[in-house]
Amino acid sequence: MPATGYEIAGEPAVLVREGGTEFLLPEATPRTSLRGPARRAPVFYNPAMALSRDLHVAVVQRLSQVMGRPLEIWDALAASGIRGLRALKETGGVASLLATDLQPHAVEVLRSNLQRSAPSHVRATAVSADAHEVPPGAPFDLVDLDPYGTPAPFILTAVEALRPGGVVAVTATDMAVLAGAEREACQRRYGARPLRNYLCREAALRIILAEVSRTAARRGRSVHPLLSYERDHHVRAYLRLDALRGDEPSPVRSVPFEGYLGPPLLHGVKGGPLWTGPLHDATFVDGLRPPSEPARPLELASWLERLREESKVDALFYYESGEVGRLLHLTSQPPLESILAELKEGGWKAARTTMEPSGWRTDAPWPEVERCIRRAERRPPPPAGAAHGATEAPAGRATGA
Ligand SMILES: C[S@@+](CC[C@H](N)C(=O)[O-])C[C@H]1O[C@@H](n2cnc3c(N)ncnc32)[C@H](O)[C@@H]1O
Repeated sequence: MPATGYEIAGEPAVLVREGGTEFLLPEATPRTSLRGPARRAPVFYNPAMALSRDLHVAVVQRLSQVMGRPLEIWDALAASGIRGLRALKETGGVASLLATDLQPHAVEVLRSNLQRSAPSHVRATAVSADAHEVPPGAPFDLVDLDPYGTPAPFILTAVEALRPGGVVAVTATDMAVLAGAEREACQRRYGARPLRNYLCREAALRIILAEVSRTAARRGRSVHPLLSYERDHHVRAYLRLDALRGDEPSPVRSVPFEGYLGPPLLHGVKGGPLWTGPLHDATFVDGLRPPSEPARPLELASWLERLREESKVDALFYYESGEVGRLLHLTSQPPLESILAELKEGGWKAARTTMEPSGWRTDAPWPEVERCIRRAERRPPPPAGAAHGATEAPAGRATGA
């Protein structure tokens, strides 16, 4: 139960807890829905994103560890401020937090929350500002873009507001556009053709990465993904921006390109341009640790475990058991564990994906995947509860596709 009897600028407010952080919300903000934000809330707060913010806390902790110092953060579309506030309260990794929003009521909420909660050694400021403009206080180590719908209009400003080696965290919730239901809008907004098959959500993520990559290149920066995911009707990525080297080939391409040997896209299917490079930095992901009081401890633990496995397999697109079964006219579906075991015994990397419970990634080319599935069909079923996580190919593996 949230505690009542609080005020924000003279209006009744309640004290709410998410993870290890207490914060104020106007009393009229509905908070019970786990599905999404309330339509007419006085300030935006979506409890369904608590898991994403659990992961955000882990990322900020890890980033400050990797950078070797606490971070200077700009939370550009902050609403209640919960994302930045959680990083501030639940990690020792924040040196300063600038939280901005255009909505006057949100700025009052932000001010109250920062005044109430920011530790005295952290510079925490709430300001009414337009996220289209670089704010005073730049450059930052981390800029967070968590807009309604598309982040596209804010990306260039975020790039300009970051110091070299800084990280942009970008969320997109316009999945109808990115994942193919509104093809023309995707072309207009991102200059990309979305995929309309089972891979549409991964393609959506890769269209956003391509958008950031192109925008960063305009300011002489290249993109290095630390962590990228699709989950609960949104995509989100943490991308380090380094100096662009002229000799780097761009991983932004249309699919299928010449030499493409990933999951069959079916005759005539074309998509992109999209990011075809890695989605994660395996070392970065490996070092992520859950915060001490996550809002969704069990979901976070299993998600982190799956992310760690997946990050070790750099492969464009995942396979999905049902799709592959239909394609190969299988009469029965071999267990996923057997397919992964065959691939690894063949010297390839293979791991389950976070994007689909019956999906997996491998660096094996499609003809080899097909052979492994055929062998998996004849393999004795694995014992109940057999582990399927490990991704490493045995020493002396064949060269990947
Ligand atoms: C999806 S909400 C942010 C959610 C928040 N990060 C969280 O974790 O709860 C988007 C916010 O962006 C604000 N906004 C929209 N356009 C803006 C702009 N141009 N500049 C600054 N804020 C803006 C809205 O008022 C809204 O509060």
